[in-house]
Amino acid sequence: MTGAQALPQVIDGKAAAAQVLAEVREQVLGLKEQGLQPALAVVLVGSDAASQVYVRNKILRAGEVGIASLEYALPATCTLAELLDLIAQLNADSTVNGILVQLPLPAHIDENAVLQSVDPAKDVDGFHSENVGGLSQGRNVLTPCTPAGCLRLLKNTLGDLRGKHAVVVGRSNIVGKPMAALLLQADCSVTVVHSRSLDAAALCRQADIVVAAVGRPNLIDASWLKTGCVVIDVGINRLSVGGSSRLVGDVDYASALTKASAITPVPGGVGPMTIALLMNNTLIAARQQWAAQGTL
Ligand code: GUN
Repeated sequence: MTGAQALPQVIDGKAAAAQVLAEVREQVLGLKEQGLQPALAVVLVGSDAASQVYVRNKILRAGEVGIASLEYALPATCTLAELLDLIAQLNADSTVNGILVQLPLPAHIDENAVLQSVDPAKDVDGFHSENVGGLSQGRNVLTPCTPAGCLRLLKNTLGDLRGKHAVVVGRSNIVGKPMAALLLQADCSVTVVHSRSLDAAALCRQADIVVAAVGRPNLIDASWLKTGCVVIDVGINRLSVGGSSRLVGDVDYASALTKASAITPVPGGVGPMTIALLMNNTLIAARQQWAAQGTL
């Protein structure tokens, strides 16, 4: 016998997302038989190329699972007041169950004012402070889609997460902070590593679970990892090499393969899960609204 390590499991985010989407589609079909259809409004401000791709994919995916979608494209020059006015209309429209404002917004628009203007019951991104607070208190609220997708991948891979040491690399409002809250709720011991951490690699080496969400291509290599750890790579970074470009994560994939027991690829790992969980959140929001109205 040699001491060679078994090949790590490549965590298939496309397959896991397909499973979530199939469950959502089945439930949406059931609701349609009762004359109900969930609807998602997606608001895009400006013409950021990556945001346009994300929005197009969200609309496509909604169609595939039977969720109605409404797309609102505002020019980059729109004012905060115009955007708030649109959101107020969507809040008041009982046929709209979910509202998503694609980020980033143009610099002149106060992002916090916009996120706080979304009705928390329709906040399918989970970015309103009421939902953020609810998550940190362990209440059952709408939860940010990317970290919720990462948690599903981890549970699919490891089963029970209780007692595991999870290190989250990055402290953004969209991923790092809600990811830490979700892992804590799943009974992990959680460390958040960030740009001011004194020895990020040493902290990471103690982790059973590493979730990387910093937006720095190939930052984390095998020297950051404990043998047998599970790695979830949220990074989507476009690297230009010669005349062409390719997507890489925050984890140096080839290097990490020598240590991890399981790892998400980029692309095909976390990315597909984010949209699947958005559809799931829209379904949850719709059900809760209809239940509150006595329709369901
Ligand atoms: N931009 C990057 N990620 C996200 C996300 O999860 N939601 C929204 N609304 N915008 C984003």
